[in-house]
Amino acid sequence: MPVIGVINQKGGVGKTTTAVNLSAALAQRRNVLLVDLDPQANATSGLGLLPSSSVYDVLSGRIAARNALIKARQQNLAVLAASADLAGAAIELDASAEDVRLLAKALVGVRPRFEFIVLDAPPSFGALTLNALAASDHLILPVQCEYYALEGIAGMMDTIERVRGALNPGLSVLGLLLTMADQRTNLSRQVEENVRKHFGEMVFEVVVPRSVRLAEAPSHGLPIFEYAPGSAGAVAYQALAEEVLRRVSQA
Ligand SMILES: Nc1ncnc2c1ncn2[C@@H]1O[C@H](COP(=O)(O)OP(=O)(O)OP(=O)(O)O)[C@@H](O)[C@H]1O
Ligand SMILES: [Mg+2]
Repeated sequence: MPVIGVINQKGGVGKTTTAVNLSAALAQRRNVLLVDLDPQANATSGLGLLPSSSVYDVLSGRIAARNALIKARQQNLAVLAASADLAGAAIELDASAEDVRLLAKALVGVRPRFEFIVLDAPPSFGALTLNALAASDHLILPVQCEYYALEGIAGMMDTIERVRGALNPGLSVLGLLLTMADQRTNLSRQVEENVRKHFGEMVFEVVVPRSVRLAEAPSHGLPIFEYAPGSAGAVAYQALAEEVLRRVSQA
């Protein structure tokens, strides 16, 4: 039951889109828990959920994780939802060894119930992202196909290296995921080429295309597979799920 953190301190690179649709794809054949660690609660609302309890209640010790799980409308998919008060946790928690392990500890009790746990991390680098890094076995780093893509990744890799040393020695990068690619543009192709040159096999084969369907789906509270099955985005995230299953089994 691996925990996969979807992480990038950069905002708007496709973390939530990836966390939601990867979870939905994996839930077609496995039991999956999606944890929304972002006070913006985009993953929670993107699945059309209005939570009664949230991961904040869990991190603050008010509710055990097993009692805070919400059933998504999709089969085999449960959610630990986010709510706006999670912003409070980002302030209340500090970088102490105890506080950054709160999520990892909270998940211990529910891990046996799920074959995959996917964490949607917030942008910015604070206590919530540290909690995600401490609780993850594997990381997926979405990288938007844009000019500054490489700069951001180097910083992320440094951070992950430090976390590995100080907090979570078993943490592995499952892959970098190129997102919002527009294959018609030279820029997109160059970015892809550059990222692959630098990071080689660490980059997932699948590239997520820029697709209006992917951007629209959350406003309907649906994963891409229900909103626009067969669309390029659906095909890409299905392929990602397969690559993830393969990589996890080889890790
Ligand atoms: N492949 C795509 N094609 C088109 N739009 C996309 C794609 N992926 C994500 N988007 C849109 O881009 C925006 C940012 O995506 P998303 O919310 O997934 O990023 P994020 O990294 O989670 O952002 P944040 O850092 O704010 O949490 C959203 O409006 C989303 O719908
Ligand atoms: Mg997000």
